[in-house]
Amino acid sequence: MKGIILAGGSGTRLYPITKVYSKQLSLIYDKPLIYYPLSILMLAGVREVLIISDADTIPLYQKLFNDGNQIGMSFSYEIQTAPNGIAEAFIIGENFIGNDNVTLILGDNIFYGKLDFLYRAIERKEGATVFGYQVNDPERYGVVEFDENGVAVSIEEKPKNPKSKYAVPGLYVYDNNVIDISKNLKPSNRNELEITDVNVTYMNRGQLHVEKIGRGIAWLDTGTPEALLQASNLFGVIEDRQGLKVACIEEIAYHRNFISEKEFENLISLIPKSNYRDYLIKVLKEGTDDL
Ligand code: G1P
Repeated sequence: MKGIILAGGSGTRLYPITKVYSKQLSLIYDKPLIYYPLSILMLAGVREVLIISDADTIPLYQKLFNDGNQIGMSFSYEIQTAPNGIAEAFIIGENFIGNDNVTLILGDNIFYGKLDFLYRAIERKEGATVFGYQVNDPERYGVVEFDENGVAVSIEEKPKNPKSKYAVPGLYVYDNNVIDISKNLKPSNRNELEITDVNVTYMNRGQLHVEKIGRGIAWLDTGTPEALLQASNLFGVIEDRQGLKVACIEEIAYHRNFISEKEFENLISLIPKSNYRDYLIKVLKEGTDDL
């Protein structure tokens, strides 16, 4: 399974936060936003990850993550020259994906909670899996409608009159057909290759699994300053209460055995004196039970 983080987009709604930095580098409590989606791929055991962004931002991600070897990951980087839509990621990433299946997560999507829904999806070798998450404002998202048996019967992108309250989060698991499907898409009215059109294609072929993500999982929006603050507050509260960090990629790498104890020690020695470093030292000494 390969992974892609699409961290593009102009983030104009967050101006001036995004005048210099891309949105996915903005801060959520104590770490850059992109750590959160990256941690989801890592928890799912996806170790080869392609980060797609614009030409100005790619060097910043390279500075942040290098080639990923220090955390037992392998990162590649590709440029998306214009915001041509989420599905373009599979065209840009064609060589990277090769013959594998691929999980795409949007660089501004945060999930928190037990990830069994994702682990199950990754086990499936064929077709596509997307998720349905109940929100108050479905019109802002892709919206999936279910019949009385819980089978998905329609998916619409930002409908004026949503047929359900279930938004489709920016986390998608596809078999290798996603490359061909994306190549054959026509741009939408907003001139993008829509991920919703990819999902509708799978649905029409009878190969789309849609799993509802129930209560107990947080899927957070990061599109507005209020949403950024809410996410920061949420993780600030959790981390302070438990003394455990969320989306700590070094901890996950160690816990999941992507790196050895020695490598973890080396990694810590390169981190400047900070709370973050102290936390990693604590993890090294005491271990972590659960992630
Ligand atoms: C995109 C997708 C939409 C999905 C959302 C999740 O929306 O087009 O289907 O529900 O991400 O974050 P956009 O980021 O273009 O508003």
